[in-house]
Amino acid sequence: MSVLVGLDVGTGGARAVAVDESGSIVAEASSEYPLHTPRPGWTEQDPADWWEGAREALGKVAAGKEVAGIGLTGQMHGSVFLDSSDEVIRPALLWNDQRTYRQCDEITRAVGEERLISIAGNPALTGFQAPKIVWLRDEEPENFDKVARVLLPKDYVRLKLTGEHATDASDAAGTLLLEMRARDWSAEILDSLEIPREWMPKVYEGPENTGALRDDVAEELGLPQGIPVAAGGGDNAAAAVGTGIVGPGLVNSSVGTSGVLFAHASEFNPDPSGRLHAFCHAVPGAYHLMGVTLSAGGSLAWWRETLGGDYDELVEEASGVQPGSEGLVFLPYLSGERTPHLDPKARGAFLGLTARHGVAHMTRAVMEGVIFSLRDSLEIMRELGVLIEDVRATGGGARSALWRQLQADIYGTPIRRTVADEGPAYGAALLAGVASRTYADVDEATSVIKLREEVTEPDRERSKVYEEHYEVYRSLYPATHSAMSRLTDLAAGSTG
Ligand code: XUL
Repeated sequence: MSVLVGLDVGTGGARAVAVDESGSIVAEASSEYPLHTPRPGWTEQDPADWWEGAREALGKVAAGKEVAGIGLTGQMHGSVFLDSSDEVIRPALLWNDQRTYRQCDEITRAVGEERLISIAGNPALTGFQAPKIVWLRDEEPENFDKVARVLLPKDYVRLKLTGEHATDASDAAGTLLLEMRARDWSAEILDSLEIPREWMPKVYEGPENTGALRDDVAEELGLPQGIPVAAGGGDNAAAAVGTGIVGPGLVNSSVGTSGVLFAHASEFNPDPSGRLHAFCHAVPGAYHLMGVTLSAGGSLAWWRETLGGDYDELVEEASGVQPGSEGLVFLPYLSGERTPHLDPKARGAFLGLTARHGVAHMTRAVMEGVIFSLRDSLEIMRELGVLIEDVRATGGGARSALWRQLQADIYGTPIRRTVADEGPAYGAALLAGVASRTYADVDEATSVIKLREEVTEPDRERSKVYEEHYEVYRSLYPATHSAMSRLTDLAAGSTG
């Protein structure tokens, strides 16, 4: 039987999965690569490392299988600068790189904040690709002069696989250069920023075939010649395809290192205040709204590392603490925050500490604070009239009963889970299934996704307690942000 392969060019490494036609995973492989931080707030990777990781992961999952197609996904927003011979000019700047705040101001001045949101769905944020291009012009003119093409991370791997310069609409939306309604590059934004359109790859819909696998690559990796490489999607859109978030009312709640609340949207309806991201979906013609909590599981990982304790023991102890952690609230802004504050200078805090509080209370408060932060995204979705009928937990947090119960109680909605929770690579494999005509369309591809029978229901009493704590949580950022900002400046050695 033939299989579909999904490849995720992630931040920590490349991951490939092989999925059979019934949606079962038959093989998986991954390969790690380094992340470089040449200065505080800068993050870079070498595209050659992605290609090497991708080859290793692909070669392993493909061995001995009849592969019908490959689908690509990966970390969004990064910038791969290529010269006219498609050679990489400098290391890629990544989604979590914060160096471009001045360029964000420049872009906002050049295009106008309202125009940016109405054309591209979002305000200028440091992580996005457009400010990285402007940064190269401002800071490394000798490199900028060599640029002939700019690609997103997974699309560099696509270039190596197929020889084509192509992307998909969901990832392209994370550049800030896409006209969301047209699902193609915005002449207005490109012109305002003096970025040549020829630099940008061709935009496809997620399940479309962007080109055949090159013969030499097929031979090296033991793959069949000429198989299609699907456009795929940015990691969040592809993960949403993989959990079946492909229609109205469906929402993904993901707790990984970062936390993401992702809602399917049939129409382009951006948040006028820009707090939620509005991007294209990997489903043709569809969109999504997305809120991002930068330190979600990352907050718990920080807490565990700080204590040096065992993760399962900590969570077990926290399960025994009363909801609300006996008056203790945690703000999870350990790396600044995207939704809803869009504030790189936001900082974390415990509020309400007494001598009675111990590690178990603090662990529970960390987890509650993370879900309060995701609730902020849910509230904006509700304000915008987004239909929220079926919330599915995904990411590492979906495997923990306490994380799931906190989501149910704090959102006040039942929480479901899929049987195979395999992240973005799984969704990319399903998209490859459409490109290879294994399935007729995304609906047929996602019909193979199975939901678990068990549903985590909200508890009315606990939800009531959390409503009051959430009110307190919401009041804390406005009350403390100027102090946080000053502390950030002091830590950076400047009071200005
Ligand atoms: C989304 C985002 C991250 C990256 C890295 O806006 O910045 O989810 O895609 O995975």
